[in-house]
Amino acid sequence: MSFWSEHVLSRAIDAVCSGRGPSKHRSELIPLAEGRVLDVGVGSGLNLPHADRARVERWVGLDPSPALLAKARVRAAEVGFDVELLEGVAERLPFPDESFDTLVITYTFCSVDDPAVVAQELARVVRRGGKLLFAEHGVAQTESSRTLQRSLEPTWKKVAGGCTLQRDIVRSLTDTGRFVIERTKLREDFPKWMSTVRSGVAVAE
Ligand SMILES: C[S@@+](CC[C@H](N)C(=O)[O-])C[C@H]1O[C@@H](n2cnc3c(N)ncnc32)[C@H](O)[C@@H]1O
Repeated sequence: MSFWSEHVLSRAIDAVCSGRGPSKHRSELIPLAEGRVLDVGVGSGLNLPHADRARVERWVGLDPSPALLAKARVRAAEVGFDVELLEGVAERLPFPDESFDTLVITYTFCSVDDPAVVAQELARVVRRGGKLLFAEHGVAQTESSRTLQRSLEPTWKKVAGGCTLQRDIVRSLTDTGRFVIERTKLREDFPKWMSTVRSGVAVAE
C-alpha cells in the first residue's frame, strides 16, 4: 500500500464520509438492515453504529483497504453484534449464491473498477426477496453539471482513490434484471458535481 493511501487517503475518506450528508443517509437506511448483512466496501465501518442490533444476525464487511479495515475493526468492537471484516473486492465476492438477507453499499459504487460486474455479484449473493440498501453519489441532473463532472473526473480520480463521478447505481442495479427499486430518493447538495446522491432500497426478485 502506498504512503498516500495508507496515511492520507484513509483518513480523508473517514473524515469526508463522517459528514452530515452521508450520516443522514445512513440514519435513514441502515436501521433497515436485517439478518445476514454484507456491507460492500465497508471502509472505516461508518454504517455499523446505525444498525439496529436487534435485527442483525451477522454483519460481514468487505473492503480492499487494510488501513480502512483497521478503522472498521475499532467501530466493530462497539456494536454488540457479530461482525466479520474481510479484505477483498466487490468484483469477486467470496460468498455462495443467495447467502445474504441484506446488502449495503454506501459511497462505494463510484470507486469500484467494474460497476456492471459488481452489480451482477450483488445480484448473485442476495437471497430472493432480500434487499439492497444504497446511497451513492453519481451522475448529475443537469447537462452543465455533467460537463463539469466529465472535465474534473480524470484529476479527481487520481487524488480520490479511484472515485468516479458519473455512475448511476439505480440503472446498474435494474440492468441486472434481478433488482426492483422499491424506493429511491435523489438529493442534490452543493457542489452538484460531487453531491448528487441517489439513495434507496432495491429488492431481489
Ligand atoms: C468513499 S469510501 C466509502 C466507505 C463506506 N462504504 C462508507 O460509506 O463510509 C469508498 C470505499 O470503497 C472501497 N473500494 C474501492 N474499490 C473497491 C472494490 N473494487 N470493491 C470493494 N470496495 C472498494 C474503498 O476502499 C473505500 O473503503
